[in-house]
Amino acid sequence: MTGHSSSTLHTPSIALRVSAPHLRPQAHAIAQRWGLPLAGDAEADAPEFFLLLSDEHLALCQKGDDAPGPVFVDFVAGTVAHRRKFGGGKGQPIAKAAGFGKGKAPTIIDATAGLGRDAFLFASLGSEVRLIERSPVVAALLEDGLRRALTDPETAAIAQRMHLLAGDAASLLMALPEAERPDVIYLDPMFPPRQKSALVKKEMRLFHSVIGEDADADALLPLALQSARERVVVKRPDYAPWLAGRKPTLAFATKKNRFDVYVIKAL
Ligand SMILES: C[S@@+](CC[C@H](N)C(=O)[O-])C[C@H]1O[C@@H](n2cnc3c(N)ncnc32)[C@H](O)[C@@H]1O
Repeated sequence: MTGHSSSTLHTPSIALRVSAPHLRPQAHAIAQRWGLPLAGDAEADAPEFFLLLSDEHLALCQKGDDAPGPVFVDFVAGTVAHRRKFGGGKGQPIAKAAGFGKGKAPTIIDATAGLGRDAFLFASLGSEVRLIERSPVVAALLEDGLRRALTDPETAAIAQRMHLLAGDAASLLMALPEAERPDVIYLDPMFPPRQKSALVKKEMRLFHSVIGEDADADALLPLALQSARERVVVKRPDYAPWLAGRKPTLAFATKKNRFDVYVIKAL
């Protein structure tokens, strides 16, 4: 794992709080590692958005009674676990797009890791996955989720195949040595939601307020096409145009999303 990027392009300063005093040393280490400020314990003193470390997890929270969230990474239970067990395995559109077939699982770089759900799915299907995330707040959440997944017998083997690289994907891909090129590069940059209303999932709203939009995402496609050996897969909402306006070789649709596939070499 590398140190975090100096770029906090999209991340307002998010302070870290603890739910109980015995967690202060651990919070101190997390704050230092990710360059995050520490806040006082009283909720009243907390800024609007903050990270809260409890005995259970590290979570992104927003102040206020009707605030969305909290957002934390959970690979062991909840929707991610459900998707692993009942999501359709290699037959689901995201897996077909990434080229999972009967043969060996592809090696993957997920260059926009976010909360790591898609990366976890790839790893659960057998891939070694490198996860690149540039927001220190999101990377801290991801690292916390991976740490917990490593201690659970149901997810430990999967989490061992997931390797977090904190930093900007554009720079990391440009510096990628030949021997470390993956079979597949996966991109899922933020895209503005169609409705700004309560219909947008609460969790997504909180995430959007903190991370913002990945307005520079178009630039990742040519870099990914140079760095992947076999294909680049781009996840888009069904109403979004092609990334960088570039027509894919093929696409797999789900109810709300599209996986645009740019084939470099047949698997
Ligand atoms: C929509 S989220 C990805 C969600 C993810 N696919 C999942 O399953 O949880 C996009 C993430 O990519 C990150 N990101 C966008 N551009 C990036 C870049 N150039 N380098 C590293 N991370 C980037 C954002 O900070 C954000 O956390």
